[in-house]
Amino acid sequence: MPPSPSWVAPRLAAYAKRTPRPVRFEEMLKFGERPSQSTLLQAAKFLADEISVRLAHRYAELETLPYGLKEMPAVYQVKSWYAESFKDLVEFYNVIDAHRRNPSLGCKFESEHGIQGMGSWFSKLIGGARGRKEEFDVLPPGLASTAALDMTRPSVMPAVNQVSAEADGLPYFGQCQSPHLVNAAPAYNKQFNTILKRIVDRHNPVVVIVGKGVRQLTQSHPYLPEHHPEVQSFLNRFHRNRVGVRILIGHHLALQRQHRFPHHIGIVCTRTSVVDVASEASVDAAEVCEQSYGVSPPVEIQIPEGGVPDFVYVPSHMHHIIFEICKNAMRAVVEKEETRVGRGEAKRKDLSPVVINVQVRGDDILIRVSDKGVGIPAREVDRAFQYAYTTAKQAPIDPDFHGSEVDGAPMAGYGYGLPLSQLYARYFKGDLTLQSREGLGTDVFFTVKRDWVGDEPVLM
Ligand SMILES: Nc1ncnc2c1ncn2[C@@H]1O[C@H](COP(=O)(O)OP(=O)(O)OP(=O)(O)O)[C@@H](O)[C@H]1O
Ligand SMILES: [Mg+2]
Repeated sequence: MPPSPSWVAPRLAAYAKRTPRPVRFEEMLKFGERPSQSTLLQAAKFLADEISVRLAHRYAELETLPYGLKEMPAVYQVKSWYAESFKDLVEFYNVIDAHRRNPSLGCKFESEHGIQGMGSWFSKLIGGARGRKEEFDVLPPGLASTAALDMTRPSVMPAVNQVSAEADGLPYFGQCQSPHLVNAAPAYNKQFNTILKRIVDRHNPVVVIVGKGVRQLTQSHPYLPEHHPEVQSFLNRFHRNRVGVRILIGHHLALQRQHRFPHHIGIVCTRTSVVDVASEASVDAAEVCEQSYGVSPPVEIQIPEGGVPDFVYVPSHMHHIIFEICKNAMRAVVEKEETRVGRGEAKRKDLSPVVINVQVRGDDILIRVSDKGVGIPAREVDRAFQYAYTTAKQAPIDPDFHGSEVDGAPMAGYGYGLPLSQLYARYFKGDLTLQSREGLGTDVFFTVKRDWVGDEPVLM
């Protein structure tokens, strides 16, 4: 990856001092009901700035990690992705903002049909900037030549305090107030989607790469176990922030997808059916289990007599959580049988079922996944929700695995299944807990708050 331009490091530091602004879940829904080019552009501006702030906070934290963790090659790699994505977003925001201040500039992404068009956009920008020099950082001479016309130069970047003064008051949901920007909204929105998709792809391997960093650390510092509280709370903050950013990005992109699923607003489903999600997730888990062991236990889904009402939720999150719990339960059942009959000898007919029991309790839906597998020894139960705690033979870390999908997901081995699922569950004010008895089996309790509306839990 090429080194970042020189303006990136000081801006990362400045943005890390700004306070993140949580988005209200109900705003995501309201905005998503009938998005227009104008409201999408407004959200794009908000998100470009807000995600920059959140990335800057994480970047700053990666720089100050204790115990030499910040020196790990994996952490360097992740940091460089954060800097790159930060740069993409800040540039995008500044291009729109320059146009907002100076309507005659036109839209850079409409005129970008070659160096000619781009050159004239930058010349106008520099011309406009000269008129209001105090608004911009240093303006070195010689910028009129096309070769020097580069948005990444500090000369065309507004001063940080000026950006934050405007951006901090920006709503996520609303109409874009500048008519000339609205005219160019389709081009801006298209460009922003390209940037967001690039960021998602770039950051896909982060869960695995950070996991690798932690493993590198514990290999080089055997006295420092990975379940050290400081390492755990870093991982929790880091992953919670990542989930938040991915929800915002995923929602923004989903709103513009050609194909809309029924009852979906972006990534949110207004009629989520626990039973449908649970049966899909358990089928997916069984598939992974069979790839690993050649067999999978049967699954029973039990629902109350009156059925389970549909409710507002993000089904992909629920799927992820139930998939991870089922994988663990299936592994426990198959491994218990294998200790009786030998490796690779377990038969489906001899496997005890994994039971998914769904109950409605007031505003909560309780999903209990029970197995009669190997169970967890009492002394280890508290560790089950720690990052990187696993009793599986450590799988070689596959950098192409994104940590959240079925394809290529290992049966077990990262020790991220439970802690990340708990994080997802708590993100929407639910919870994930477990009870286990060694040799007898395990019950995992996944509580979901029905139709929850509120702020994202953005804590830095
Ligand atoms: N249902 C269960 N029965 C027995 N042990 C379990 C069960 N669920 C979790 N565990 C224990 O908790 C550990 C951590 O589970 P977790 O899902 O976080 O990681 P993992 O399954 O080892 O790896 P992965 O990240 O691939 O999910 C497991 O390795 C296992 O020892
Ligand atoms: Mg697991």
